[in-house]
Amino acid sequence: MRALRFTAYGGPDDLEWAEAPEPHAGPGQVRVAVRAASVNGIDWKILTGVMSGGQALAGPGHLGFDAAGAVDEVGEGVTGVSVGDDVFGRGTNTQAEYAVLDTWVAKPAAIDWAVAAAAGVAGETSERGLRLLGVEAGSTLFVDGGAGGVGAVAVQMAVARGARVIASAGEANHDYVREIGATPVLYGDGVADRVREAVGGPVDAVFDVAGKTPIEALVSLVSRPSQVVSIANFAAGEAGARFTGGGEDSRPKEALTLVAQLLAEGKLVIKVQTFPFERAAEAYRAIMGGHARGKLVLVP
Ligand SMILES: NC(=O)c1ccc[n+]([C@@H]2O[C@H](COP(=O)([O-])OP(=O)(O)OC[C@H]3O[C@@H](n4cnc5c(N)ncnc54)[C@H](OP(=O)(O)O)[C@@H]3O)[C@@H](O)[C@H]2O)c1
Repeated sequence: MRALRFTAYGGPDDLEWAEAPEPHAGPGQVRVAVRAASVNGIDWKILTGVMSGGQALAGPGHLGFDAAGAVDEVGEGVTGVSVGDDVFGRGTNTQAEYAVLDTWVAKPAAIDWAVAAAAGVAGETSERGLRLLGVEAGSTLFVDGGAGGVGAVAVQMAVARGARVIASAGEANHDYVREIGATPVLYGDGVADRVREAVGGPVDAVFDVAGKTPIEALVSLVSRPSQVVSIANFAAGEAGARFTGGGEDSRPKEALTLVAQLLAEGKLVIKVQTFPFERAAEAYRAIMGGHARGKLVLVP
C-alpha cells in the first residue's frame, strides 16, 4: 500500500506518497480502506520534529490521526462492526491507503467521507474541552480561535448545547463565525476587552484553541483561572488555567458518538478543503500558515 511518509524532519517538501508496510487491526481495533484523512496541527508538529524531544527520526515517519473509510479488517474482541461498514474515527498513521482505528463510530450515510474524516480529532478535542469547562445551556463561552479546524467545531458543539458563544477570528472570518452561531471579535492585543464589551461582563468559560493570546489575558475573563482550558498553550498551567492534550481527559467513543449525531442532525457543519494524497504538501503548507478556514482533508 501507499502512505504519506517522510524520512527526515523538515517541512511539506519532505513529504512523499510512497510504499509502506500494511498495518493490521490488533485487539480492539479495526482497519479501514481510507476514503479520507484529515490534517491536524499535531501532524505538522511531528513532521517538523518539534515533538521529537531532540531525538533523531528512527525509520520513516508516518502521519495522520483520524480517517473515514470502509472497515476491511476487524481485530480480536471487537463486536458491533463488520467488514464493509462505513465508519470514521481516530487512529494513527491514517494518511495512507489503509489505516488502523482505535475508536470509531458509524459514518452517517448523508455525511461526506471528507467531513467525517475531519470530525475525528476536531470533534473529540472539542467535546473534551467543552466537558472540562462544564459548558451547558445558558453558559457564556469565549472560544479563542473560533474559525479554525478545532475552533469551528467547538463553537458549533457549544451552540448545540445551548451556550452563548463569542469567538475570536481574523477579520476575514467574522462572517463565517456568525454563520456558525457565535459573536465574532478580532483576536490580538486587547482581545479580552473586546470580549468583555461584546458580552457586557465576564464569561463562564474560555476555550483556547489557538494558543496565541497570553494566558493571563484569558484568565482575566473568568472568575476562576481553571475555567480557561487550552489545547495549544503548554504554559497554561502557570497561570492556573488548564492544558489538555487528551490522555485521561479523553472519552473518545462518547465524543465521536455525539459528533456523529450532531453531523447527522445538521447541527455541526464542517467546511472542508480536499487535496489528493499526492498533493498533501499543499495541505500541510496551508495548515502551517495558521489561517486555514475549517479543515484540510486528504483523499485518495
Ligand atoms: N491538545 C490537543 O488535544 C489538541 C488537539 C487538536 C489540536 N491541537 C492544537 O490546537 C491548535 C489549533 O488546531 P487547529 O487544527 O484548529 O488549527 P487551525 O485549523 O490551523 O486553526 C488555527 C486558528 O488560529 C486562529 N488564530 C491565528 N492567530 C490567532 C490569534 N492571535 N489569536 C487567536 N486565534 C488565532 C486562526 O484564525 P484566523 O484563520 O481567523 O486567522 C485559525 O482559526 C494547534 O496548535 C493544534 O496542534 C491540540
